[in-house]
Amino acid sequence: MVSPVAAVTPSLRTAIERALGAEFAGADPVLRPSQYADVQVNAALALAKRAKRPPRDVAAAIVDALDLTRECSAVEVSGPGFINLTFRDSWLADLVSEQAADERLGVPTQPRQIVPIDYSAPNVAKEMHVGHLRTTVVGDALARTLEHLGHDVIRQNHIGDWGTPFGMLIEHLLDVGEDSPEAALLETDPNAFYQGAREKFDGDPEFATRSRARVVRLQAGDEATLAIWRRLIGLSTVYFNRIYTALDVTLTDADLAGESTYNDELAGICDELEAKGLATMSDGALCVFLPGFTGREGKPLPLIVRKSDGGYGYGTTDLATIRHRVRDLHADRVLYVVGAPQALHFRMVWQTARLAGWLPDDVEVVHVQIGNVLGEDRKILRTRSGAPLRLMSLIEEAVAKAGAHLDQARPDLPPAERDVIAAQVGVGAIKYADLSVAHDSEYVFDLDRMLALVGNTGPYLQYAATRVRSIFRGIDADPGHAQFAQAPITLAEPSERALALHLLDFGQVVAAVGDELEPHRLCTYLFELAQAFSAFYENCPVLKAEADTRASRLALCALTLRVLDGGLGLIGISTPDQM
Ligand code: ARG
Repeated sequence: MVSPVAAVTPSLRTAIERALGAEFAGADPVLRPSQYADVQVNAALALAKRAKRPPRDVAAAIVDALDLTRECSAVEVSGPGFINLTFRDSWLADLVSEQAADERLGVPTQPRQIVPIDYSAPNVAKEMHVGHLRTTVVGDALARTLEHLGHDVIRQNHIGDWGTPFGMLIEHLLDVGEDSPEAALLETDPNAFYQGAREKFDGDPEFATRSRARVVRLQAGDEATLAIWRRLIGLSTVYFNRIYTALDVTLTDADLAGESTYNDELAGICDELEAKGLATMSDGALCVFLPGFTGREGKPLPLIVRKSDGGYGYGTTDLATIRHRVRDLHADRVLYVVGAPQALHFRMVWQTARLAGWLPDDVEVVHVQIGNVLGEDRKILRTRSGAPLRLMSLIEEAVAKAGAHLDQARPDLPPAERDVIAAQVGVGAIKYADLSVAHDSEYVFDLDRMLALVGNTGPYLQYAATRVRSIFRGIDADPGHAQFAQAPITLAEPSERALALHLLDFGQVVAAVGDELEPHRLCTYLFELAQAFSAFYENCPVLKAEADTRASRLALCALTLRVLDGGLGLIGISTPDQM
């Protein structure tokens, strides 16, 4: 099954070549939706210019050479050189029937690529903050979508689990005891545990000395120290997993590949860079100087791979990481869903890796840049005291608000069911608000707007899905039943036709999300689909229509539900049965 646009494109190509000559073979017509027809080809733009003929002549010549009698009810030259195409109702009806019969709903299966996706990546013993919310939610949407498109996605949760703070964290854990209430904070409020350690470190010189000695032992691979470090990581991952479960995110312990994973490779990375003549000593540190990277006053900007104290940094780990993803995971495409401020870091790491031969030209690496989440004051979202906002409390607040609304709206539902729906709606609202804006732009975190039942929100789309479900509940039928996937669809009313046209775009939109890595396109699509459905449902009686029309319209309803539900599923949002 292909979209109407994809279906007519080959005929248009042939007509362009026939009308304008062989040198136009392969010219790509651009088809856009138009208010005068279903789609419009702008022949005036590139084609007429290249053909050196008046745009209207070019459009007329293409129309003469065009055979779309099966697909179109009208093909017209319009304006200064447009070709307007109106699809035949019966042809659209056949396409949409085909889509309903297709388990994949028209979503293509792409040639399989191996795609490691680096996302979420919180830091151990520190609260996951709203910045991590976005990389988690966007990364998970991309992982689900690319998997559905047929790719082999390898989730890589590059948690911050190594570095100098671990000396003080380990000493603090030893001081308070592993069974103490303070240690329990690691699973509930890791930031508080971190703050406790930090305060002691700053105020107690003896503790600071012990902590420094502990880092040295940790880095030297002292087994007793490593054992405590492992328990610290274990407690922290309990916390991460609570957030992932609450957010309905697909990451598991099997996807953990934190910074420490690469410890044993860092010395070798440095040696190899030196041997290849790529790294040089500068002020006691081993550095890579790359052409084109300069800092203030044009001074060359180094990527430091070994600090003057012998320690390795974030850049060294990321060099080992990219090498691992290419060499061991056999990546075709690597995605880094990470905050926008790290763009320079990644460019330097990748360029170094290319020069070192660890990143061949045919492996694509992409930084999916994540923009800031802002408070109402348009500054990075923080609590009143200025501390970064706890992610868990945001989730809890959203679920509580959704629950309060449900208590009012649906007192008839059993409380346990209301709790399940509140979680779906509250979490769906946060995730959708995050996904519906371009991942690299900022947005203001406003729970009330996110939870609104009107506008481009998660709850609006979830509600649209429950509305369709209630039609089927009313006739005691399962919308997933094969009967609705196989009923012949006919299109007569304009709003019914508009709904079908929109449904037919699904596959192409999902493919574009995978290609361009832009989940917000799917959000826009689903929002417009819900609106098209609303218009259809207002204008076209379903259950009261006569038998054939009723069967056809029920099939359209069922297909709409499958697309809404499937589309939201691809971005990690579930739809309640009712709300
Ligand atoms: N832990 C880092 C942070 O919180 C993000 C890590 C991103 N991934 C990577 N390979 N560097 O900012």
